[in-house]
Amino acid sequence: MVLQAIKYARGQLEILDQLKLPHAEEYDHMYSSTDAWHAIKEMRTRGAPAIAIVAALSLAVELSNMKLPSLAEDVQVFITEKLDYLVTSRPTAVNLADAAGKLRTITNEAAARDGANGDSVRDAYVAAAEQMLVDDVSDNENIGKHGAEWILKNSAAGKKGPVSMLTHCNTGSLATAGYGTALGVIRSLHSAGNLKHAFCSETRPYNQGSRLTAFELVHDQIPATLVTDSMAAALLRLRGGSENIAGIVVGADRVAANGDTANKIGTYSLAILAKHHGIKFLVAAPRTTIDLTTKSGADIVIEERPGKEVTLVKGPRHDGVTLDLGVVETISIAASGIDVWNPAFDVTPADLIDGIITEVGVVEKDGDGVFHLEDVFKKQL
Ligand code: MRU
Repeated sequence: MVLQAIKYARGQLEILDQLKLPHAEEYDHMYSSTDAWHAIKEMRTRGAPAIAIVAALSLAVELSNMKLPSLAEDVQVFITEKLDYLVTSRPTAVNLADAAGKLRTITNEAAARDGANGDSVRDAYVAAAEQMLVDDVSDNENIGKHGAEWILKNSAAGKKGPVSMLTHCNTGSLATAGYGTALGVIRSLHSAGNLKHAFCSETRPYNQGSRLTAFELVHDQIPATLVTDSMAAALLRLRGGSENIAGIVVGADRVAANGDTANKIGTYSLAILAKHHGIKFLVAAPRTTIDLTTKSGADIVIEERPGKEVTLVKGPRHDGVTLDLGVVETISIAASGIDVWNPAFDVTPADLIDGIITEVGVVEKDGDGVFHLEDVFKKQL
């Protein structure tokens, strides 16, 4: 069965509650944009593309089920206000702002059409939001294909046979509308018989790697091993050769115009490790994650989260033998009173990135070490 983080039918939206994974698969109904704002803020839905699509579809559901004003302008104002509100849920991932911008334009155009009314503006919005769900899956499949081909062709390991890859955070079906970005590359290598092994990092402090990526890898029967973030260097030194590790592939929350990439905290250290060990470092992201209006990583707002995400862990009770799903406990793992800094993301400078894998191909730097990301917007699928 394919993992589905987002279940949508016209007028209905359910999201898989990522806070309950990997131990329980429970879906939450989203009836409105307010429901989605809270689900995003509380991390029940996560990952840059998934956040954008859940936000867009929640408003589609709200519009489909409410008694609409008859005037086009009234519906236009309603949609604009709700989109502005949804964008405030989390700051770093650009996909939500990108989706909101496109949906605002579509709404404004629909409202300006001759004979427009409330229903026609709503219909234009709903159709565009639904298309985003469809496009994200096909974009990810193309990212997977381009990334797998690139790594086999351009890495030393790829020339020897099936390769292993390390990934960070969650970028799979749960973080997107389906298939995944960086995990899509691993999935694509696996389905073509070109994956030796996948390694996923735990991704402290929120554990997207051990909770979500590990769950997807087990679910999809992809040969994989979990390591803590602090084991990555030893993994590359001690097992890089025997495992034929070709590179590290990660997702992105925002790629600036110069290629600097904001992604889950810990990504930057992995890029430095890749450089030191002479393996490839790749960012897999749809064009909706590329933000040409942000010139460099210095302009990206990094979300800081509560210190208790570092000092406390939450999960079902385990007595060493049995897991008791009925009892969820919170455990303290740090000295009481210690100050905590908890940035949710970091920025990897472009010079540490070998390629940015998009749905239209892999972008590499030119001879002067510069990414020309504007070119991907000129290409057709
Ligand atoms: O805080 P999260 O769980 O939303 O962070 C997710 C990540 O950083 C992902 O790597 C990124 O959004 C890419 S998802 C395809």
